[in-house]
Amino acid sequence: MDSPAARPLCRLDDLVDGEATALDALLPDGEESLIVLRQGDAVRAWLNICPHAGRRLDWAPGKFLISRGTLVCAAHGASFRTDDGECVGGPCRGDRLRAVPLSVENGEVRLATEPAARLSGTAG
Ligand code: FES
Repeated sequence: MDSPAARPLCRLDDLVDGEATALDALLPDGEESLIVLRQGDAVRAWLNICPHAGRRLDWAPGKFLISRGTLVCAAHGASFRTDDGECVGGPCRGDRLRAVPLSVENGEVRLATEPAARLSGTAG
């Protein structure tokens, strides 16, 4: 059986450059919604959980507002830099989204989680 890290989340071509979407992924602690942002050939991901009040950041399922290099939480307007996930405006300034490492190989986007870490329960 393939580990979750071995299965692609999507193809790079499925993602619109400069936009974010929501994808469900099986992480060591269970299934989570991810914010997946493509910037050229690079893809970043964070848990779709706002550090302010724990809400999802999308304003409609899988739809995120990106404005002037920040991702804006639909609940109360916290703004997170798209390069490092730090909140630079709004009610949780200074907090960060929790990054989820991804890899892109042969046009496929995958979780970069080590299967061994997943099995030992020490990931995170
Ligand atoms: S839950 Fe995101 S700003 Fe409040």
